[in-house]
Amino acid sequence: MQFPKLTPLQSRFAATFAATVLLLVLYYALFTNSGGFAYALEVREIAPPAIVHDYPLLIEGRKPEEIVGRGTSGLTTLGNNQGKLSNINIGETQNWVFPKETVNGPKSSPPKGLPANITAPSSSTATSVVGDHELKKRANTVYISLNTCIKPSLNSTSPASSSASLPPLTVYISTSDNNQRPGPGKNADEQTEYTADQGYMGATIQASGDVYIGVSASNTSAFSGIYNYELGTSVDASYHSYEDSTNLYFVDSDIHSALLITDNVTQSDPGTPNYQEWMDIEPPFTIFANNINNSGIYGLERSYCALNQWSQIRKGNNAINTSMTSRGLGNEPKEQFYFTYLNSSSTYYGILGMDGNSTSSGNGVIGGGGKIWRAMNFTTKADDNCALLYNLDFCSQVAYAVPSNPDLDSTALAQIYDSNAQSYYQNFKNSLSLIPCNTSSISMYSLAVGCADCEAAYKQWLCAVTIPRCYDFSSDYSFLQPRNVGQAFFNGTKLPANHSLLQSPVTNASRNPLIDEKIKPGPYKEILPCQDLCNDLVRTCPAALGFSCPTGKLLNDSYGYRASNGDITCSYLGAAYYLNGGYRVDVNMSMGMFLAGFGLWLASALF
Ligand SMILES: *[C@@H]1O[C@H](CO)[C@@H](O)[C@H](O)[C@H]1NC(C)=O
Ligand SMILES: *[C@@H]1O[C@H](CO)[C@@H](O)[C@H](O)[C@H]1NC(C)=O
Ligand SMILES: *[C@@H]1O[C@H](CO)[C@@H](O)[C@H](O)[C@H]1NC(C)=O
Ligand SMILES: *[C@@H]1O[C@H](CO)[C@@H](O)[C@H](O)[C@H]1NC(C)=O
Ligand SMILES: *[C@@H]1O[C@H](CO)[C@@H](O)[C@H](O)[C@H]1NC(C)=O
Ligand SMILES: *[C@@H]1O[C@H](CO)[C@@H](O)[C@H](O)[C@H]1NC(C)=O
Ligand SMILES: *[C@@H]1O[C@H](CO)[C@@H](O)[C@H](O)[C@H]1NC(C)=O
Ligand SMILES: *[C@@H]1O[C@H](CO)[C@@H](O)[C@H](O)[C@H]1NC(C)=O
Ligand SMILES: *[C@@H]1O[C@H](CO)[C@@H](O)[C@H](O)[C@H]1NC(C)=O
Ligand SMILES: *[C@@H]1O[C@H](CO)[C@@H](O)[C@H](O)[C@H]1NC(C)=O
Ligand SMILES: *[C@@H]1O[C@H](CO)[C@@H](O)[C@H](O)[C@H]1NC(C)=O
Ligand SMILES: *[C@@H]1O[C@H](CO)[C@@H](O)[C@H](O)[C@H]1NC(C)=O
Repeated sequence: MQFPKLTPLQSRFAATFAATVLLLVLYYALFTNSGGFAYALEVREIAPPAIVHDYPLLIEGRKPEEIVGRGTSGLTTLGNNQGKLSNINIGETQNWVFPKETVNGPKSSPPKGLPANITAPSSSTATSVVGDHELKKRANTVYISLNTCIKPSLNSTSPASSSASLPPLTVYISTSDNNQRPGPGKNADEQTEYTADQGYMGATIQASGDVYIGVSASNTSAFSGIYNYELGTSVDASYHSYEDSTNLYFVDSDIHSALLITDNVTQSDPGTPNYQEWMDIEPPFTIFANNINNSGIYGLERSYCALNQWSQIRKGNNAINTSMTSRGLGNEPKEQFYFTYLNSSSTYYGILGMDGNSTSSGNGVIGGGGKIWRAMNFTTKADDNCALLYNLDFCSQVAYAVPSNPDLDSTALAQIYDSNAQSYYQNFKNSLSLIPCNTSSISMYSLAVGCADCEAAYKQWLCAVTIPRCYDFSSDYSFLQPRNVGQAFFNGTKLPANHSLLQSPVTNASRNPLIDEKIKPGPYKEILPCQDLCNDLVRTCPAALGFSCPTGKLLNDSYGYRASNGDITCSYLGAAYYLNGGYRVDVNMSMGMFLAGFGLWLASALF
């Protein structure tokens, strides 16, 4: 595979190690005096997080803010659908007020929103109708949320630092005028305490007057430096949000890249307006990926603000390619993420996110602070002869790593596999055309299935069998079948001539001879196609075609078995790791006896 020159991402990684102390100019607007408003300009030393940022940290220009005009000294006001950034020292508590004029003020009109998720029973429009009714009531719903954007670094001189985990920020909320500066040590009856979890805090309260908020960073000597956080307030919906499901599935990887998909965004049928709306939409989600050894995001995995600044792979660093696709089980719309610049044999956290409401973000936008889903993880491959392939023209459902050769670019590789499958398919269509299919039901070969079903089953089987799913030769999972071991590895070494794998034609060659001849991947391992693909083919197609599945040892050498936990232990089209309920076992499938017929021409080469 061709590999582009050093990207900004990679240069940044290099810069990380050069930088020892990063000086940042940080503004913060917490100092006030009685009549007006003063700015404090602070120059601080911050030990850099794992990755050095390439743009100024405090993003928003800060405008002078109104002070609550009733002698409550120095409380900065928060606005509706506003996120306020602030630095806070270890041990410090900062106070804010969300004033009653805003609490009781008008709600924003609900935005257009994303197209409907047709299976979802409660849509967002339903909740906003309830909200309008509740406007009549005295108390209003107020959403308060926090994202930790920067964390202090470990104090390496402190003995406590080796086992310490980052103390989370704590948020205190008071609706009592008697407690206008909620914080640690204040009367617990007059405030509620919320602790940020992995950089996120979300609270929903009922209020009719001023809402007082305290943000506190607990005392610790294990860390040094500052925190930076974004506090969001709204009467419409939470400014930041976190959802406790991953909504993200790992499809496959090679040594540099990975392909992930979201869950189906709808269950609509193809051709319906809802389906088309989703397929045509600008991809609404974004992805963050971080090496599990990248401590830069530890403790901040639920903060959009932090992930968007510190993630190794994130929107804007040109490593990610997103699009909508209907590939996969059920062929429903979903978003796919292809990204590169990963290290081999490494495990990454993948985190789904949404920038604001997906079309706008930041102050003034309902949910403008962004949304994060739960982190999942995936691993890249170790060996360079499996290449991730997707978006083929003919075998359009193929999306996994295939036997490859680092000298072939992915376009050439795709072309070899896809045109080979297509030519087999053409031969098959010629054979099928000799069988009465599209005639009256009396002369059809079966009442239950027709030629279209046979064509679909054949295509599934053909693509899975002619385009094998590749895995590291160095891996020793029992479900893997070694292939092509007679060829040299790319470093020129070969297995010893008396090696047992060289003695069997099953392991000494690829399933599809084209691979050994044209692609020359060297030794690799194959995740065998699922046995049910062959059974489906035999069951669905006319007996006259003579398809049959191998039996006994030959069956186990050629086909694999599905795992009940959703792990991929055999290859099928549309596969993704740990899809729940992704597969239904067809109890009627049987391994019958089938007549050998003129369809056997292909079996010898491929089974
Ligand atoms: C941290 O310790 C200082 C000094 O003892 C104290 O004033 C401050 O309130 C403490 N901060 C917190 C958040 O407990
Ligand atoms: C996002 O917010 C903007 C500004 O409020 C609004 O115009 C847009 O329709 C919203 N987008 C969605 C998908 O709701
Ligand atoms: C770092 O740890 C040392 C040793 O415990 C302590 O003396 C020092 O005050 C700590 N620094 C900070 C900024 O907490
Ligand atoms: C759509 O709704 C289904 C069922 O409620 C849910 O499982 C799925 O995660 C939803 N998809 C999205 C993208 O919200
Ligand atoms: C990354 O973390 C894993 C698991 O903790 C560990 O086995 C591996 O050695 C680490 N790799 C590096 C480069 O630190
Ligand atoms: C992203 O995908 C588009 C369309 O498939 C392609 O043209 C483009 O080269 C890809 N970019 C990267 C960085 O892979
Ligand atoms: C999508 O829906 C199909 C059924 O229509 C289901 O089999 C599959 O597991 C769902 N999720 C994904 C990510 O494909
Ligand atoms: C790749 O590995 C290097 C060296 O261990 C590390 O510095 C870098 O952060 C890693 N990059 C990614 C994207 O994992
Ligand atoms: C990866 O995810 C799996 C499944 O959720 C979990 O069991 C495992 O502990 C995770 N690994 C890491 C390194 O977080
Ligand atoms: C049967 O008819 C369908 C639709 O009319 C067509 O797509 C298919 O190719 C036909 N099959 C054969 C074997 O002629
Ligand atoms: C060559 O590569 C193979 C497979 O990656 C490895 O097992 C072998 O040790 C390597 N040989 C040398 C001399 O590096
Ligand atoms: C293969 O040959 C080497 C040296 O000729 C010998 O040491 C080794 O035991 C042999 N291995 C097998 C499996 O016969």
